Amino acid sequence: MKKIFYVFLLVFMVFLVASCVGVGSTEEKAPPSDALYKDISASPEDRARDLLQYMSLEEKIGQMAMVDRQFLASEADIAEYKLGALLSGGGSAPYRNTVEAWRSMVEGYQKKALSTRLGIPLLYGIDAVHGHNNVYGATIFPHNIGLGATRDAELVERIERATALEVAATGIHWTFAPCVTVPQDERWGRTYEGFSEDPAVVAELGAAAIRGFQGGSDISSLGRPDTILATAKHFVADGGTEGGVDRGDAKITEEELQNIHLVPYVDAVKNSVATIMVSFSSINGVKMHSNKHLIMDVLRAKLGFDGLLVSDWAAHTELKGSLAQQLETVINAGLDMIMIPDSYKDFYSTMLKLVEEKKIPMSRIDDAVYHILLTKFRLGLFDNPFVVSAPADVVGSAEHRAIAREAVRKSLVVLKNDKSVLPLKRGAKIAVIGSKANDIGIQCGGWTISWQGKSGNITKGTTILEGLREVAGDSTEIVYHKNLSPSDEIDADVAVVVVGENPYAEMKGDNRSLKLSATDVRLVKTAAEKNIPVALIILSGRPILINEVLDYADAVVAAWLPGTEGAGVADVLMGDFKPVGKLPFAWPRSVSDLPLKIEDEGKALFPYNYGLTF
Ligand code: GLC
Repeated sequence: MKKIFYVFLLVFMVFLVASCVGVGSTEEKAPPSDALYKDISASPEDRARDLLQYMSLEEKIGQMAMVDRQFLASEADIAEYKLGALLSGGGSAPYRNTVEAWRSMVEGYQKKALSTRLGIPLLYGIDAVHGHNNVYGATIFPHNIGLGATRDAELVERIERATALEVAATGIHWTFAPCVTVPQDERWGRTYEGFSEDPAVVAELGAAAIRGFQGGSDISSLGRPDTILATAKHFVADGGTEGGVDRGDAKITEEELQNIHLVPYVDAVKNSVATIMVSFSSINGVKMHSNKHLIMDVLRAKLGFDGLLVSDWAAHTELKGSLAQQLETVINAGLDMIMIPDSYKDFYSTMLKLVEEKKIPMSRIDDAVYHILLTKFRLGLFDNPFVVSAPADVVGSAEHRAIAREAVRKSLVVLKNDKSVLPLKRGAKIAVIGSKANDIGIQCGGWTISWQGKSGNITKGTTILEGLREVAGDSTEIVYHKNLSPSDEIDADVAVVVVGENPYAEMKGDNRSLKLSATDVRLVKTAAEKNIPVALIILSGRPILINEVLDYADAVVAAWLPGTEGAGVADVLMGDFKPVGKLPFAWPRSVSDLPLKIEDEGKALFPYNYGLTF
């Protein structure tokens, strides 16, 4: 008899505790006017925990959904489905791609979210991965590979501080950056999103980027109106897949995981990164989106990450089974918010069913929603949903473009400079050759205005040709040859030939050969036949094979994907600034040598850390 009494007492106590701390509740409750979560002096942790107890299951599940705004059947669905977040995927812009149109779009969505019963504000995320790159006229900085060549953490922090202001000017408060991947095989289409093959460089620059976005290394800096949420991505070993196959399988040892791919996350968590995005890829056959051990035991428990864990774009659908089985797997593995990004009605109904069938425990739902609410309280969204802001004229400002131009200068790596062809002489006659010398889209690469990017005059900026004309001055005659045929005469003292890759992003950039195009090879060889010195400029998202043209050029400069400020290239070519860039990746002779390790110095055409100066 006594035993039964104690069992009842225990059950009663558990229920009592549960109802007090708000876990387990599925029915909506009306919060009192003095509810703790409304108290701005209370901690974000206490406010998040307090709010949880008033939420219905439907409201909790809605918070776990992130939808791309282009897939909203109606803006009313934001309130109808109590959505926790929206995003703009690459190129998902308002009809008029202006700062004002972005801001009013995002504010309009936020007002819908505030009309819900509890008025929980919306998070809005975007890939501002080299400036606010979806927005026309924004400053486009060098992609991470170029920043890796600078080895300059202070510069990276300034760049992301500037980017945060441009993002804030559009009313957005969350970027899916920095990518802290450690690419091991340059055949991967996302190599340029990585700072380096060296985990220590990635860790240092990734942490600097987080401080730039978030305003410092302490999470409390997120409360400032000019700071935005950073995202360390993609957890983990996205850059270690076999053959560099995007979303492929990283067949790695525990030592490689610890000493290469996890390293940047240690520093990211130490610098209070607010959110982390999980990788599409697998490790030894296990999809990261189902890897409960690495998510819960390593990232959460061991590294101490307490922020928001978000999935990648529809990544759950890459798992085996039905939608219900996929969601059950990823949520129970520890994901907090799902970047659906389209079928939110199916998500909503399927999740309700999974909880009702106890396939996802309520404790996991509460844990996920707690992290989501905590992030919103940390950002200050509850106290002012439009808190993150900056004046519209910071977007593409002269000050930001000057930072970008400095970054371009410091990113250039001089691989060859025979006969001191560089720096070019003012007063000389310079022939600039190749369509890529005058193409903003090529300079910017992927993730610019659209997801894949494209060649042409896609946004405001300065091409390399325009930069040379500006920097060289009137005393120097510059002649432009968009194309060059063997019969063309070149009346010049020196030729600057620009070659490289066309824009790409993600899997569309996976490349098994890494060869220069036949057109580019022919361009260099034709220029070399004119019996004048040739300075070759390479615009690429990674080291590409240049064996075929190396002997035809007297000077070779790796310019990576410099972005809108092409004048930064001219600053160095004309000798106003000395080149300081160092290779962030070893430069291969052949794809059969890949993956090329830092220690494989002998094999490389140019070893890791190589770079000449004047
Ligand atoms: C993409 C990328 C990820 C990006 C996300 C949202 O597929 O993998 O880096 O942040 O979708 O655009």
